[in-house]
Amino acid sequence: MVKKIVLSFLLLINISLVFSQQKTISQKVDALLKQMTIEEKIGQLTQYSFDWRATGPITVKRDQEEAIKNGKVGAMLNVLGSKYTRQYQEIAMQSRLKIPLLFGQDVIHGYKTTFPIPLAEAASWDLEAMELSARIAATEASASGINWIFAPMVDIARDPRWGRVMEGAGEDTYLGSKIAYARVKGFQGKSGDINAVIACAKHFAAYGAAIGGRDYNSADMSDRMLWETYLPPFKAAVDAGAATFMNSFNDINGIPASGNKYILSDILKGKWKFKGFVVSDWGSIGEMVAHGYAKDSKEAALAAITAGTDMDMESNAYRNNLAQLVKEKKVSIKLVNDAVRKILQKKFELGLFDDPFKYSNSEREQQELNNPEHTKIAREIAGKSIVLLKNTPPFAKVGAGVLPLSKDIKTIAFIGPMVKPLRANHGAWAINLPEIDSTYIVSQWKGLENKLGKNTQLLYAKGCEIDGQNKDGFAEAIAIANQADAVILSIGERWDMSGEAKSRSNIHLPGVQEDLVKAIMATGKPLVVLINAGRPLIFNWTADNVPAILYTWWLGSEAGNAIADVLFGDVNPSAKLPISFPREEGQIPIYYNKFNTGRPFDNNQHSPYRSAYIDLPGSPKYPFGFGLSYTTFEYSELKLSKKKIKNTENIEVSINITNTGKVFGEEIVQLYLRDKVGSVVRPIMELKDFQKIKLNVGETKTVKFIIDNQKLSFYNEKLEFKSEPGDFDLMIGASSSDIRLRDTFELIK
Ligand code: BGC
Repeated sequence: MVKKIVLSFLLLINISLVFSQQKTISQKVDALLKQMTIEEKIGQLTQYSFDWRATGPITVKRDQEEAIKNGKVGAMLNVLGSKYTRQYQEIAMQSRLKIPLLFGQDVIHGYKTTFPIPLAEAASWDLEAMELSARIAATEASASGINWIFAPMVDIARDPRWGRVMEGAGEDTYLGSKIAYARVKGFQGKSGDINAVIACAKHFAAYGAAIGGRDYNSADMSDRMLWETYLPPFKAAVDAGAATFMNSFNDINGIPASGNKYILSDILKGKWKFKGFVVSDWGSIGEMVAHGYAKDSKEAALAAITAGTDMDMESNAYRNNLAQLVKEKKVSIKLVNDAVRKILQKKFELGLFDDPFKYSNSEREQQELNNPEHTKIAREIAGKSIVLLKNTPPFAKVGAGVLPLSKDIKTIAFIGPMVKPLRANHGAWAINLPEIDSTYIVSQWKGLENKLGKNTQLLYAKGCEIDGQNKDGFAEAIAIANQADAVILSIGERWDMSGEAKSRSNIHLPGVQEDLVKAIMATGKPLVVLINAGRPLIFNWTADNVPAILYTWWLGSEAGNAIADVLFGDVNPSAKLPISFPREEGQIPIYYNKFNTGRPFDNNQHSPYRSAYIDLPGSPKYPFGFGLSYTTFEYSELKLSKKKIKNTENIEVSINITNTGKVFGEEIVQLYLRDKVGSVVRPIMELKDFQKIKLNVGETKTVKFIIDNQKLSFYNEKLEFKSEPGDFDLMIGASSSDIRLRDTFELIK
């Protein structure tokens, strides 16, 4: 009892401390605001890039240093390293009010230590691992002077032609929301810590729905689709405490996101009560002129500030027009003050007013950028991200699959354009610091060398380039394959073939690489193909003919070691695809949680009148949630605590999973639901929960899920998020197309 009283007392003190601290911050913000001229206020709403490392088109001529000195810049981006961030902060300290700068950076999948691209990491379905990699990335970046991370990207993407699928968590809203939450937590860290920074959920909103997968293109969709599919990961980011949001380049139903009041004010700041600030995307305010939504930069500035875009990145629209707009009373000073207030609030919270140089610490930078623990974790996470797509016995012989390879193999031919490169393993959106690029990447060749003893001879041939039609290297590749006991072939996309502005209409394996696969297969040697890419690629011949395939994405600094770990069985692959792989581009967009239509493609096979293509099956080549293991899992004993529930009740679901194979493994158990009849049509299945479990050989674990009303609810015709009485299908599976156990239940009034 006494302990309880003391604890409540301490809690009270703590709450009042936090409260008084908040109070002082808002008082400090108000006091500062009172001293600021309109130009200085607009300065806080202005962000510029360091010219050397532009991540967008530089369209305006800037006088950065002079402007910072005059209090006309609130934030920079692309200034990297403690030395440069310190230099810029020193200039800000020469300004009248000495307001420190924010330094933003696209730390998308690591800083010095590069982790797998976000789509690859999403394949791990390992939320703790993703939170940890974000934390490490932010820790390294923060030691280098960065206090604002332009990540996570939480755009749902159902179109692999879009180059930016690599930056997100794939096609699924439930998985994407969980990942968004974990990544925001990871990037931001614990407020007050030396390495705590602010994150930025982007790109708000519906950027991933670009028509035709063409970057920057319009998104045109129903409100229900927006709320049900595209918004939830952003809401999860708000729930995780994301300090900032970035708007998107696209228009949504005709209104560019930067000037979209419905998106920014009604939803984000209104309904969701988001208290942080919104930054535009690079030049996106100015681009409203090209959209044909604003006549000139002044109209664009008016639309943006009115809609709720607080900071202007690289358009110069606020700097050039806001003061005049205030003078003309088109923009109220209150609106400007509110935007400034939110930005200053974050600067205070970060502790920049106490020590503007707190993040630019060369000693900490040295330490964090060379922390061996980070390397170790990067290797583990890379291993968790590799998807085993196929593992059959070589040449239809019975017995085990080709993988894992034995470390006693005498001669291995390691062939392909991805074997030796370094940078290629980082993928797009890796931080481009010249001093780290070539030295801190374990190539795939090096990874194999590290793994194998002197008894194995490694032979190398490039075979061909990633693209182009030249087959001159085939002969050498075939010759070394013929000398080997097993062949590993590493092919894929070049690192700059996915990413921003890297949409492709053809997502087949580029160049003559699939011809190389055919040529090597013809040697009759056991073959493993590694596919490195930033998006789902199409490789039907390889998929149908090669016995073993690992999808290795772009895995980052430790790619080589992680690939070797999986190839030789030190790590048992456990990843599952977070996005469907199409058979041909013509199937795109293809995603598992589709509606049935009135004439489902997989029913009534004899009728031609189906919602199907006549030249392709309706299913993807590899479905959402798919991925193999070196062991096998048996699913049994599905039990539901109740078969009829009211919307105030829950069902507890339990199943037993047994490792029935010969090695330790991890399985991602997926729970899908289908609402059989709704007042609006419902998808044929929706992921509603999952668990990743570890199992020793022969071990059985009971996995439990709770189905609550939230999981049964959806946006009805009036856009209310509610459940409706009726029957539900429950599906427990190893992928969206490998459902092992089924049952039904009923929601009653
Ligand atoms: C991208 C953003 C990025 C910004 C700053 C833009 O082109 O769309 O994701 O944060 O540049 O580099």
